[in-house]
Parts: sequence; structure tokens; C-alpha cells
Amino acid sequence: MSRVALVTGGSRGIGAAISIALKTAGYKVAATYAGNDEKAKAFTDVTGIPTYKWDVSDYKECTKGIGKVEADLGPIEILVNNAGITRDAMFHKMTPEHWNEVIDTNLTGLFNMTHPIWGGMRDRNFGRVINISSINGQKGQMGQANYSASKAGDLGFTKALAQEGAAKGITVNAICPGYIGTEMVRAIPEKVLNERIIPQIPVGRLGEPDEIARIVVFLASDDAGFITGSTISANGGQFFV
Ligand code: CAA
Repeated sequence: MSRVALVTGGSRGIGAAISIALKTAGYKVAATYAGNDEKAKAFTDVTGIPTYKWDVSDYKECTKGIGKVEADLGPIEILVNNAGITRDAMFHKMTPEHWNEVIDTNLTGLFNMTHPIWGGMRDRNFGRVINISSINGQKGQMGQANYSASKAGDLGFTKALAQEGAAKGITVNAICPGYIGTEMVRAIPEKVLNERIIPQIPVGRLGEPDEIARIVVFLASDDAGFITGSTISANGGQFFV
């Protein structure tokens, strides 16, 4: 029987590539999305991957949504915490709303999504939790005090939970993508992207969503059972830890 994988923010950007790659690898995949019904429906029509709408920053919505996915597909064995947002602004212009929205989604969202699934993983003695952090959680980024803090928090969460899951067959790992060619990155002012960011990437280009998805497929597999608490960077050489 194929395993069930849930990908948050799984109908767009890096998340869509992850959903599709997991499906291609033989998993039963469900994807969550937060806002755009039309895009989610189009994604389901093209890929056959069911989409579920809820806000990962809301614990009650997560427990309810996860219950529905499990009723439809079976127990979730692979969780990919990919949903994330940016509210970039220089710190002197950053508002409490900018801060809270990013922390609530990118960091608290990991608690909200993982907590309701964790007990079942422990009971079944198997689980894979894969958290999509960011290069900017590792190195910090001007204009992203909120995002960098949330993504650094995701790495602490990963390392703590990996220790708890190890004896129960659950691995917990993080991936830190660099600048990948998605809508999120293309929203950066063109001048900043071309003149400031791309020149900082030694391979000289943005990454492809598939280059992250392939790491997820590996971490989800039985072959990766000895890898836990790790942070895998995929950033074109922009930053070495
Ligand atoms: N790298 C290097 N320099 C940067 C930079 C970056 N990422 N972002 C901004 N700067 C520089 C600008 O070039 C500018 O320098 P000059 O004054 O010398 O020209 C200076 O910082 C101020 O920038 P702005 O003039 O654009 O100031 P602003 O107040 O109008 O806007 C901003 C600030 C909203 C932060 C805007 O610059 C911006 O969006 N920058 C991009 C920030 C960024 O890298 N975000 C990552 C988004 S993608 C993502 O988050 C995914 C992931 O995980 C990697």
C-alpha cells in the first residue's frame, strides 16, 4: 500500500513541484492551500492531486483539515511543511502585522500541522517530517527580520523534534532552499533581484522547484532512515554553513 503524504502550500511554487514529485514516486498525495480556489482547482484538474483549503496558522483548522485528509486517504505518514509567506520590509518600516503574519504561518504553522499528526506517527512507529526552511533562516537577510527569524526557528524545531522522534522511527529534517524561481522570488523588485541577489549566487542562476522536490523524495524514502535532524542546503553555493 502506498504511503500518504501531505504537502502544505502544495499547489503552487516549490510545494507544487513537491506534490507532483511525491505522486510520481508512488505516494498518495494531498496538498493544502490557503487562498486561491481557482488555482487549486486547476492544479487538481491537471495533476489529480486533491487540494484542501485551510490556514496553517490556525490550530483548530489544522486538526479539522488533517482529520478530513486522513478520512479520505488514510493516516498521514509523510508531512511536508512547505507553506510559507513573506512580508518583506526594512525593519524600521516593519509593522507588528508584518511580524505576526510571518511568524504565525512560517513557524507556528509547523507546530499546528505537526502536532495533530505526531501521535499517529508515534503509534505506527514510522513517520517523515520534512520542513522547508530557507537560506535566509541560516544567514539572515536584510528586509526579512520576520522571515529570517521564522525560518531559523524552523531549524530549531527540526533539531528538537528529531531527537524525540528517533526512537519511534520518525525522522525530522529541514531543507534550506536558496533563491528558487517561484512567484515569491519574482515578487522581489527586479533591480534588487538582478543586481543584488543573482550576482551573489555562484552557479549564476535561480534554482528550480524540482531541485528541491527531489530532495524531499529522497528524505521521504526508506533509504533516508538514518538521516534525521539534518539541514540540507540547496542554494547554488550562495551560503555554506
Ligand atoms: N540582497 C542585497 N541587497 C538588497 C537585498 C538583498 N536581498 N534587498 C534589498 N537590498 C538593497 C537594495 O538593493 C537597496 O540598496 P541601494 O540603496 O544601495 O540601492 C537597499 O537594500 C534598500 O532596498 P530598497 O531600495 O528596495 O528599499 P525598500 O524599502 O524600497 O524595499 C525591501 C526593501 C522590501 C526589503 C526590498 O528591497 C526587497 O524586497 N528586497 C528583497 C529582500 C529579499 O531578498 N527577500 C527574499 C524574498 S524570497 C524568499 O524569501 C524565499 C527564500 O526563502 C530565499
